Amino acid sequence: MSTPLRHFLGLKGIEAKTIREILDLAARYKAERSAISWRPLAGQTWAMIFTKSSTRTRVSFEVGIRELGGNVLFLNANDLQLGRGEPIKDTARVLGRMVHGAVIRTYAQSDVEDFAHYAKIPTINALTDDEHPCQIVADIQTIEEKLGPITGKKVAFIGDCACNVARSWIYAAEALRFHLALAGPVGYLSPVTNPWVTQAHDVTEAARDAEVLYTDVWVSMGLEAEKAKRAAAFAGYQINHELVALAKKGALVQHCLPAYRDQEITERIFEERAGEIFDQAENRLHAQKGILHWLTDGPMG
Ligand code: CP
Ligand code: NVA
Repeated sequence: MSTPLRHFLGLKGIEAKTIREILDLAARYKAERSAISWRPLAGQTWAMIFTKSSTRTRVSFEVGIRELGGNVLFLNANDLQLGRGEPIKDTARVLGRMVHGAVIRTYAQSDVEDFAHYAKIPTINALTDDEHPCQIVADIQTIEEKLGPITGKKVAFIGDCACNVARSWIYAAEALRFHLALAGPVGYLSPVTNPWVTQAHDVTEAARDAEVLYTDVWVSMGLEAEKAKRAAAFAGYQINHELVALAKKGALVQHCLPAYRDQEITERIFEERAGEIFDQAENRLHAQKGILHWLTDGPMG
């Protein structure tokens, strides 16, 4: 019997069980990286269609797909006919007949959803304007490795609470039942919320007694024209020594990267916490393999 078609398009509405299955796979792939013999993508070719820049997501998926036995085609969306206006649903219907799965980084969430619908192959959201679900899987893997189960903990997100990364965190908080305390300036709180989320303009309120201090860039990809306006609005929404002092003893500092020193995080804190931040970046590889395996082969026994 073939595995039912699965996608990983976002954390909205995701069940805790799904996240747990992916995290278990990611942990096994990490622990046994050199010894593992599972090749769930053997004989497959996956397409990666990227409209926005990427270092971590691109490399972790390219390496992850190869380590799972698959071949990978990296396609810059601007080099495809997509860049000249061919509709996503036509691109999807072509690729769906040629490749076995797709990893897409783009602007509109509806584009990854339309692609999945029309291509009828496993499709992964590698970042849209709405969500960055793969990032949050790696983040939770890192946090749980270092602090134990995330359920019941306080995670503080400082900065652009309306961005894709914050939104995926909001959905994760609901699924895994932890307190997500968001702090951002007026005009940059999230329009999406749930009972596990608090939002404030006061960074100290969010950081106080938090087990994790998390931040992301002030200017997400596609919003470069707002750089000056955002630099003014976000001044003070920074992970620095004062903020770390308010967090719980032993709190982690996490950043999805790339990091802009002395904007969302000080150079000093970044370098002091580089070990845990780059452990988080490394986990992108293990988490992607968990996601790929879950999509194509279901949970391991
Ligand atoms: N954090 C993250 O997604 O990094 P890249 O943009 O480099 O892929
Ligand atoms: N919010 C950021 C995340 C980068 C990984 C962006 O969309 O640019």
